[in-house]
Order: sequence, then C-alpha cells, then structure tokens
Amino acid sequence: MNKDEMVVNRGLSVFAPAAHYYYQFSISRGEGCTVYSQEGLRFLDFTSGLGVLNIGHNHPKVVEAARNQLEAYIHTGGIYYSEATVAAAEQLVSVTPAGLDMLFFSNSGAEAVEGALKLARYTSGRQAIISCTGAFHGRTMGALSVTTSSSAYRRRYHPLLPSIYQVSYPACFTCPYGLTPESCGTRCLDEISRIFERQVPPEEVCAILIEPFLGEGGYYPAPAPYLQGLRSICDQYGILLIFDEVQSGIGRTGKWFCCEHAGVVPDIMTVAKAVASGFPLSAVVSSRKVMQKWELGAHGTTFGGNPVSCAAARATLEVIRDEGLLARATVAGGRALSFLQDLAARNPCIGDVRGKGCMIGIEFVDAAGVADGRRCAAVIDQCLSKGLILIGCGLRRNAIRFIPPLNVTDEELEEALAIFAASVAETS
Ligand SMILES: Cc1ncc(COP(=O)(O)O)c(C=O)c1O
Repeated sequence: MNKDEMVVNRGLSVFAPAAHYYYQFSISRGEGCTVYSQEGLRFLDFTSGLGVLNIGHNHPKVVEAARNQLEAYIHTGGIYYSEATVAAAEQLVSVTPAGLDMLFFSNSGAEAVEGALKLARYTSGRQAIISCTGAFHGRTMGALSVTTSSSAYRRRYHPLLPSIYQVSYPACFTCPYGLTPESCGTRCLDEISRIFERQVPPEEVCAILIEPFLGEGGYYPAPAPYLQGLRSICDQYGILLIFDEVQSGIGRTGKWFCCEHAGVVPDIMTVAKAVASGFPLSAVVSSRKVMQKWELGAHGTTFGGNPVSCAAARATLEVIRDEGLLARATVAGGRALSFLQDLAARNPCIGDVRGKGCMIGIEFVDAAGVADGRRCAAVIDQCLSKGLILIGCGLRRNAIRFIPPLNVTDEELEEALAIFAASVAETS
C-alpha cells in the first residue's frame, strides 16, 4: 500500500472546516512511539500526539489505571471528593517547583490559561497583562487575547480582552536587535520598562505571562537570564509571573518543568497536554498564599479533575518518575540534538537546531538566511512518506518540532534521525 492511497475522506463531511488535522490518515492502533494506520502502515510518531504523549501511546500502566477507575466511577462533577482526583493533585504538586503547592484542575490548556489570567486579576485587583509576541496560549477568548503566534487565529474575533501589552519573545535566532545571547545583556527586557514608561504603569499590571520554551510560535527556549530578569521585574513591582508550561512541562525538556533549567519559580503555572497521557486534564498551579485569595465561587468547572483523567495523570507521573524518564529525555534529546546540529553544519538549509531534552526545534532558511517554510514542508512530507510523523511551527511554518516520547528507544531514535537526514538530502 502506498501512503498516498490511504483512507482519507471519512470525516470530511461531518467536521467543520476549522477542525484541524495535520495528516489525512486514520489511526487504528498506537503503542509507544508507533502508530498504525487503518491500512496497517507503521509510523513513528515524533509529534507525541501534539506534545501530549510524553510516555508514548497507550502506556500499559496508564491503560490499567484508567480502566480500574472506569470500572469504579467515571464522574463526580465536583459534587463530592474523588480519591483519584485528590491523589493526582497531590502527585502533581509533588513535582511542581517548590512553593507551587495548590492547584485548580480543568480540562484543556486554554482553560488553564483562562484560569491563570482570572486568578491573577482576581487576587491582585489589577487588570493589565503583559505577554509575548509569537506566543500561543489557546483559542478561548481570554487565551486568544494573549495569543499572537498568527493573526489567522485572531481574525474576526476582535475585540479581544483589553489591557493586554506585548513584548518581543526572546527568540535569539531571530533577535529583532540583531544581537547574540552571549553579549546582548538581555536587551529585550528593556521593552518591559518602555511599556511601564509609556503605556501602563507597573502598579496596574497584574501579570507577565510567558512560555519558558516558545512552542507553536517557533520552538525557541527563552534564555535563563531573560526568565531571571522577568522574575526580578515581577518581584520589584508586585506583579505575578505566569509560566505557561502546557507544552514544555511534564518532563519534556528533561526536567519536570522547563523553568527549572533557569532556576526560576513563577507565581502561577499552567499544566496540561502530557499530564494525563491523552486524557483531558489541565491545572492552574500556584502558591497557597495566592490560591487562598481565590474565593469560593470565583471560578468553577463541571468536568475539571475528572477521576479517569486523574487516575491516568497519577499513573503518568509515576511512570516518568519510576522509569527515570527525565534522565532518558536528556540522553535521547542530547543524542538527537548533536546529530541534528551536525546535519545542520553540512546543510545550510538548516539555519538553527536548538532545544532542551526531547523538545527540539529545527529551523529552515533559504540561501539568504530567510525563513523557508516551503523547504520545511517538503522535508515534513518526505519524512511522512518514509514513516516518520513530524509537525511544523512558527509564523512562517519554517521550523520542525522534533518531540518524540521521552521513552523513545535508541533504535526508534536512530531510525527517525536516518529518515530525517535522508529527507533533507532528497528535498535539496
Ligand atoms: C503553550 C501552550 N499553551 C496553551 C495551549 C492550549 O492548549 P489546548 O489546545 O489544550 O487548549 C497550547 C496548545 O498547543 C500550548 O502549546
């Protein structure tokens, strides 16, 4: 069976055109790093199901935990406590940075971002929010108001939330000041002082929100000094620092949360995607001091903290801990990073390879050094035809996210890297 002949059309008549499917094939089974199409074709899923399957498809411990919970009870609606939900909450706050020890469960990344923004406004009594150009925080109206990775996501939805101010994301490869991280002295942090001087005084700002590793916007890790600088600014003015770890959390970068690389603890953190290995679950996590000001009735949910999702979350976190997957992510990601950086040295079409752990971005440029989305798309297509699933990111879709499950085997990793190198060569 040729990959071009796969079953592609079912669903096209019932899904809104806005529904997003990267590739038109139907999955019949998933296991670890591998998915099989309905026609029986095998693919390596190096998207981890959009950054969700950090321990792979259908990890047996997750399946078992969810099945056991399904047989006991499925839903509580917050009417009464569920031991599964309490246990997942305790497990999650045991791995969040010190001091972030209370949480509110919801269902999706966008919902967690909504919750974080509401928490910041409610508890500070201030309104203004500073976020980064290029960020992706979700599709609901609040989250969309701080999402600027593409105007396509915002078209026809204005007016969005007022009092949102934007600063450049510290995306060093495309530094707007033409500086390098070694010598720039985090010049881009000055944009925040300029906002305070010209647009909104700091005492009216409730939060600064950032992805410590820019995801959808192009896969750029924020340099540690930048995140440390944000922490000082927030401390100076009593502003809440929010880290959106929806994509970069739960071991993806080789630490439980990406902010640990910089040694910076935010006041509020959002968690979603990988936390329950594909079951819908997200959380707003903060300190007891902040959370206790969020009074009864100020926020709520029917499905958030669903017991089956929570049983899966507890199992997921235990698997990462017990199978040593933070260390594994560092080793596997390190191997991939050095292979890909070597490849870049021999192929000028790859302008930059960057990452931490198993969160790696590969950016394509043309001969003039300009973003090359066409080459990037061609490489992704070529990889797909050879059985490796990847997805792009960035405004010009010229970067590839290389994000295998953290428990990818050496054989799977080598197979994927070989396919990638061949695809780069074949698309020249
Ligand atoms: C950093 C970040 N925040 C928020 C979201 C929104 O998550 P969801 O799609 O679950 O609403 C995403 C989704 O990709 C994300 O990457």
